Amino acid sequence: MSDSDKNYEDFISTVSHELRTPLTSIRGFSQTMLASWDKLDDESKKKFLKIIEEQSNRLINLVENMLSVTKLQSEKEMLIYKETDVAPTVNTVVSIVKNQYKTRTFEVDINPKTPTILVDRDKFMQIMTNLIENAAKYSDENSTVKIKSGFCKDCEFVSIKISDKGVGIDEEDYEKIFTKFSRIDNPLTRKVQGSGLGLYITKNLVEKMHGKISVESHDGETTFDVLLPVCNLETQARTKCRQ
Ligand SMILES: Nc1ncnc2c1ncn2[C@@H]1O[C@H](COP(=O)(O)OP(=O)(O)O)[C@@H](O)[C@H]1O
Ligand SMILES: [Mg+2]
Repeated sequence: MSDSDKNYEDFISTVSHELRTPLTSIRGFSQTMLASWDKLDDESKKKFLKIIEEQSNRLINLVENMLSVTKLQSEKEMLIYKETDVAPTVNTVVSIVKNQYKTRTFEVDINPKTPTILVDRDKFMQIMTNLIENAAKYSDENSTVKIKSGFCKDCEFVSIKISDKGVGIDEEDYEKIFTKFSRIDNPLTRKVQGSGLGLYITKNLVEKMHGKISVESHDGETTFDVLLPVCNLETQARTKCRQ
């Protein structure tokens, strides 16, 4: 079998598995509700609908990530650059992820003086979603995820750091995790589901938007640092001539 056949087969099997799990759960809970409507109290109905909503969100994120992979490959993706405030996007993403990972605490520390950045807003949201979700996903219940911004006067970039105190990443895997389909084998990764596409897409999107991403994991803390260009006349001129 050629490498591309193998990649394609891996892709289909990962995707089928990833799609099947939430779909099975959505179907199961809808069937239960339809079959036992009169017997279920309001509390249970609400609980089931909540699961259906969460699983649908999971499907949407997955499909969005998969569409991004094909677009990244075909290089056709057009980005729509807009001057963007960091805080509202981070806060929206945190409230969505918090809903999914209720036992984690999230600490957001975005300095109100943080300069605006020049990014495609949907892509910026996708980047933050992938990183904040990973931080919650690869750490234990009751642990804290921190999101902190950094900048300096005359700096080219705003830095957004996402830290967790979870399973951690060995230094030898720092590069590998950003490649397509790669997942690091450890008891937690085996337990939680994933396609291994999130960080591949995240890195591609960050770099397409002229930013940088890096990771460091030591002393029980893992930190992803995303640098995105400050919105100024220079960066505006650059994106205008690209559009
Ligand atoms: N915050 C983190 N802490 C520890 N490991 C991580 C973290 N984020 C990502 N990883 C590792 O990198 C791998 C790739 O991440 P990603 O591309 O988002 O794929 P997925 O989450 O679907 O497995 C994960 O499977 C996990 O092994
Ligand atoms: Mg992920």
